Amino acid sequence: MRLILPLPGSEALSAELAAAGAFDLARLEFRRFPDGERYVRIDADPKGRPVAIVCQNADEHFLTLAFVADALRDLRAGEITLVAPYLGYMRQDARFRPGEAVTSRTFARLVSTTVDRLVTVDPHLHRFASLAELYDIPCTALRAAPLIAQWIAREVPEPLIIGPDAESEQWAAEIASRSGAPYAVLSKRRQGDRQVEIAVPDLAAHHGRQPVLIDDIASSGRTLIAASAELRNLGFPAPVCVVVHAIFGGDAFERTAEAVTRIVSTDTLPHQSNAISVASLLSGALSDGRRG
Ligand code: R5P
Repeated sequence: MRLILPLPGSEALSAELAAAGAFDLARLEFRRFPDGERYVRIDADPKGRPVAIVCQNADEHFLTLAFVADALRDLRAGEITLVAPYLGYMRQDARFRPGEAVTSRTFARLVSTTVDRLVTVDPHLHRFASLAELYDIPCTALRAAPLIAQWIAREVPEPLIIGPDAESEQWAAEIASRSGAPYAVLSKRRQGDRQVEIAVPDLAAHHGRQPVLIDDIASSGRTLIAASAELRNLGFPAPVCVVVHAIFGGDAFERTAEAVTRIVSTDTLPHQSNAISVASLLSGALSDGRRG
């Protein structure tokens, strides 16, 4: 029987995942020594059992992950899977300016030498076509689009699905086709971390519909805010926003919430906007061992 082992901060999703897949939920004892170094102890016997380590904040807990994975190997666990529903470091996928670190590659190398397998949801694949170009271990990239399409069909009458930039077309197109709604894609020029310009195509044929902005990531919120402003200039109501990964640093959520009708997200990252659970998606991937 597979063990689900949450790293700190991933307890709620881990409990849902264990319940969804009828897996055993283990506990990690974690604390910091007075000097700040980490203490970890696995409060379960993993011998001979496949273990899924759930980590929703690998940036903060990569060292914890490495300590736990090595301890599991010492304790003769079976296959060790990292369930990282949000896969970080996917956006610095090229050296845009001389001297920059291509962190996508380094992070992938570190994860590939730490665990046996990776399960994630909607990784930000832009310049890389698949995780196999980065990771040396089997990777499963799940798609939240079917869950998002179900949510929209239930909650939003007469939707117009909108991707705020070319990269979001993959989500917008699939969600629109699954919910039987039209879709449009805007074009975005990013001038800096918090400076975004959006251009909108002719949407006159869709007046009367409720715009639903779909994006994989909301970080500064500037993409959603700029897209909302342009849509309102054209006479549309403020959009509903659905994002897969709700990062929302600093006051980004509050600023975005002022500019739109409603924001919802999947629970790949814990956030107050979470409304769509990915637990069943993750448990399906762990149960049938799918690779992709
Ligand atoms: C960009 O490539 C992504 O798909 C998102 O549009 C972007 O990460 C959103 O970032 P922000 O919320 O900072 O505008």
